[in-house]
Amino acid sequence: MSAPKKLFIKTYGCQMNVYDSERMAEALGGQGYETTQTPDDADMILLNTCHIREKAAEKVYSELGRMKGLKAANPDLKIGVAGCVAQAEGEEIIKRQPMVDLVVGPQSYHRLPAMEQAVQTGARALDTDFPEDDKFETLKKRAKGKRGPTAFLTVQEGCDKFCAFCVVPYTRGAEVSRPADQVIAEARELVELGVKEITLLGQNVNAYHGHDGGLAGLIWALDKVDGLERIRFTTSHPNDMDDALIEAHGTCDKLMPYLHLPVQSGSDRILKAMNRSHTAESYVRVIERIRAARPDLLLSGDFIVGFPGETDQDFEDTLSLIEAVEYGQAYSFKYSTRPGTPAAEKEQLPEDIKSERLARLQALLSEQQRRVQDRMVGRDVKVLFEKVGREKGQLIGKSEYLHAVFAEADPALLGQVVPVKIVASSANSLQGAVINLP
Ligand code: 5AD
Ligand code: SF4
Repeated sequence: MSAPKKLFIKTYGCQMNVYDSERMAEALGGQGYETTQTPDDADMILLNTCHIREKAAEKVYSELGRMKGLKAANPDLKIGVAGCVAQAEGEEIIKRQPMVDLVVGPQSYHRLPAMEQAVQTGARALDTDFPEDDKFETLKKRAKGKRGPTAFLTVQEGCDKFCAFCVVPYTRGAEVSRPADQVIAEARELVELGVKEITLLGQNVNAYHGHDGGLAGLIWALDKVDGLERIRFTTSHPNDMDDALIEAHGTCDKLMPYLHLPVQSGSDRILKAMNRSHTAESYVRVIERIRAARPDLLLSGDFIVGFPGETDQDFEDTLSLIEAVEYGQAYSFKYSTRPGTPAAEKEQLPEDIKSERLARLQALLSEQQRRVQDRMVGRDVKVLFEKVGREKGQLIGKSEYLHAVFAEADPALLGQVVPVKIVASSANSLQGAVINLP
């Protein structure tokens, strides 16, 4: 048998890309590839790209530039571009970069084995279709092998919301939900491979409609999977937080008390210009209802500052909303023009205003996050230990609130959910002590 070929995948962007990279590696596993942690000895390099903010394509071109030496040293090296930049700029990449052998969009990567065969004959392969055949049906089973206790599982792709700033509806296409039986079968396989926690992924995951009762229906179906201990989902839209999903936060023990619910802005004027189809107040009402169902829920959000037309007052409204809600986790960005989206046509704000607003917003969010984290001290949480720490005898895991927790613990507890008392809080993590049950 010939030695396995080596595949290096560099993943940019969101968790869905992390999932896609795993599936691409598995698809190429059938072609005799094994993943490697460095590009230096690779036979194939795949850049799994993200197009959400500016300079995405430039980043890909400069990364490719850095790979020139590798290709010169090994003319048999194959280089591919995958993900959302591939989808948006595929033909341009093929034209501009002769060293690229293969370009594959996020909906076509089940065709990678055939594309790989084609590039081995010296051809160049481009596939950025939105094909009729279902990639998940083609890929079928997850590869066996060692896995950590947590996994991502894509259940929904694409978005029909068309926020005025966002490229996702163009790069990932219209909303599609995977059938529930396919998702449940994949969850079962993951559990058999040792997974205890599954994060359901979708660009608009709470618009999932592959099961009766939507995402809540799917969560309840997964709740019945023996051995699966924790369920999370991301990313959600406030308008799709339906009653059943809110209720599940209060009644489903496996559903973790953490919710990423982006609002983007606290100004109704800007929310309207963003085509978000909700107001600041309706967002706050939804949060109140979820917190009524699950009072200890840790909330996370996304914010954009410097959207075209954003005034000082609009920005102050965003700060007020943040004060009112209190986030335990957050992601914030300067607005960045995306060609082809409606907001890109509008007059843009000066960069220094965007930077100044982002700094103020991030200072407020960091202070809140630290406050929320510090409040955990003295509380008992449950930690799923995922890996060994740098210090001897230390394990690292995540609490139900997704805080990173360090604790001295027996390595036999790796992959298990363990009761831990939080004893201290530091910059980005909590220190805990395992509670020894009698
Ligand atoms: N500029 C800045 N941030 C953006 N996001 C999406 N598009 C843009 C853009 N053009 C942010 C939003 C979204 C997150 C995934 O990325 O906050 O929720
Ligand atoms: Fe983009 Fe999310 Fe808006 Fe969809 S809901 S367009 S993915 S920001």
